[in-house]
Amino acid sequence: MRHFLTLLDHSPEELNWLIQRAIELKQMHKRGELYEPLRNRVLGMIFEKSSTRTRVSFEAGMAQLGGHAIFLSPRDTQLGRGEPVEDSARVLSRMVDIVMIRTFEHETVERFAAFSEVPVINALTDDFHPCQLLADIQTYVEHRGSIQGKTVAWIGDGNNMCHSYINAAQQFDFKLNIATPEGFEPSQFLVDEAGDRVTLMRDPKEAVRGVDLVATDVWASMGQEDEQEQRLRKFRDYQVSRELLDLADKDVLFMHCLPAHRGEEVSEDLLDDPRSVVWDEAENRLHAQKALLEFLLCQED
Ligand code: CP
Ligand code: NVA
Repeated sequence: MRHFLTLLDHSPEELNWLIQRAIELKQMHKRGELYEPLRNRVLGMIFEKSSTRTRVSFEAGMAQLGGHAIFLSPRDTQLGRGEPVEDSARVLSRMVDIVMIRTFEHETVERFAAFSEVPVINALTDDFHPCQLLADIQTYVEHRGSIQGKTVAWIGDGNNMCHSYINAAQQFDFKLNIATPEGFEPSQFLVDEAGDRVTLMRDPKEAVRGVDLVATDVWASMGQEDEQEQRLRKFRDYQVSRELLDLADKDVLFMHCLPAHRGEEVSEDLLDDPRSVVWDEAENRLHAQKALLEFLLCQED
């Protein structure tokens, strides 16, 4: 049994296979082919934070693969009334075939996985968002081919999305320039793990010069609402705009996991720029996660 808590849980070969499989499943879906390998399989979806893309892509993905998904929130389960994560893991994993969790502390998904009898998928923690990276890499590959040897610039907060980009640089073998304001740098441990592929910078202009992909995310993540005002001040030089993208390679792509705040981390017009592939990126959450669900549930079949 395998879990998917970070991109490091799978080998580079497995991750590249998942990307190719996501592209195939997308084509099959567009052709209207019925493919239901997960008939009678059930996904439990625990959401302790809000979601549009993740919830809908997992739920639609399970339905398309012939299975079923159950939405569980702390507001109406015993998780919200203090039932221990370990007990919830033991009970739920006797009833469903696979579980995805969106929560705050990364340790919560690790504790759940340690007591689960079925595969567990990290659907975002304060520290990682690996499912989003499957969609991002799929999107890059579809538009430009392999990402190996390319250079990516990450602009903004060094938290969950940035950490998963660092893991991706290591696993998919690309260079990553990270420009963050002081005090918002990513985990030094993860940077060191990725070797000399990752360079920490301060200046967004320096970070994007000549790169193949620019990515960013909100300045205040879920759970950081109280820091919104202070972060707006600290991040104000880190907005990604058309002018900033002009410094990158002429074939550069722009990505954002969404939801985006126009006028904050992205200029008002950036999502509509021809270099932006954010809607394909959002759609690919569906196809990439279908490949992941199939991989985790069908490997022994
Ligand atoms: N990108 C992403 O995870 O979006 P949601 O918060 O809408 O799921
Ligand atoms: N960094 C953001 C990502 C949302 C998909 C957050 O954690 O809120």
